Amino acid sequence: MKRMVITGASGYLASLIQLYNKDEFEFIRVSRRDVDYSKPEEVSRYFSSLDFDVLFHTAANATTASCESDPVGTHLVNCDSAIEIAKVCREKGKRMLFISTEQIFNGKGIPGPFGEEEKLCSVTRYGQQKAEVDAWMRSTMDDYVIMRLSWMFGMPLPHIKPSPGIVLNTLKAMRTKTPTLFTVNEKRCMTYAQRLADQFPAICSLPSGAYHFASQNDRCTYDCARLVARKFGYGEKEIDSYILPNNDRYADRFRDFRLDNSKIVSAGIELGTFEDDVDRCLADFGWTH
Ligand SMILES: NC(=O)c1ccc[n+]([C@@H]2O[C@H](COP(=O)([O-])OP(=O)(O)OC[C@H]3O[C@@H](n4cnc5c(N)ncnc54)[C@H](OP(=O)(O)O)[C@@H]3O)[C@@H](O)[C@H]2O)c1
Repeated sequence: MKRMVITGASGYLASLIQLYNKDEFEFIRVSRRDVDYSKPEEVSRYFSSLDFDVLFHTAANATTASCESDPVGTHLVNCDSAIEIAKVCREKGKRMLFISTEQIFNGKGIPGPFGEEEKLCSVTRYGQQKAEVDAWMRSTMDDYVIMRLSWMFGMPLPHIKPSPGIVLNTLKAMRTKTPTLFTVNEKRCMTYAQRLADQFPAICSLPSGAYHFASQNDRCTYDCARLVARKFGYGEKEIDSYILPNNDRYADRFRDFRLDNSKIVSAGIELGTFEDDVDRCLADFGWTH
């Protein structure tokens, strides 16, 4: 069995992947309690001392607001440390898997969907930090898989709490009867996180390169939230009360940073549409049949 170092081991996506792949890999869990990602020299020493076949780096401060308020501290964690880990993998001759993001395209002046060859352009610190690692790996490493994920969603499992996503954000608005704004000025892909966990062994074996992992979506974020609410069985009147259009957010520049998934789909990874993914998520958790 392959020994896989997994960083950010207690995070949402890492936890889901470990749960569904425990018979496929021997996971060596690393969390921020083991190593301080704000000290790149310590990071380099720590990972050099580990014995592994493949390394999966998921740890990051993925909160956009934190990256804006602490650009120096989050750069150390999200970028400098990730590059130190990549250098260790390169020196050891081991494959590195890295999670990049759709946000590397959030500053494009043209609409998506974007393919893997598209020039990166981000207007947020989080996107820029991920883009820097993504570009460094592509220009410097021989054996890597970069997964550029869309916004992921899922439902809670025992001991696994999803990071914020469209399904739980919508459900929260409806269940707590809280009028909640969703922007109309944005199109992005949204993908059921279970697709990643289910296909993880195949993703690990992809030819070295960067891949867009995203189910396809033509709706704006507001319409996505309305679709999710309908799928949960809410009526139009209730939906009108709690799912509200945010016409101001990003009104100055419509954001369309959807990802074209044809490269990863041609390599045998199965993805669908946003609606397929919502149906699958709700069926998995017993809401629908
Ligand atoms: N969820 C999405 O929609 C999405 C989309 C695109 C990309 N991504 C990327 O996917 C990865 C996993 O995301 P996720 O949704 O699973 O997020 P998550 O639940 O927040 O997991 C990230 C993990 O990283 C570690 N971490 C967080 N802040 C840290 C900090 N300041 N210093 C050091 N370590 C820190 C923590 O793990 P430990 O406590 O175990 O160290 C945390 O549980 C991230 O790299 C994220 O940028 C996520």
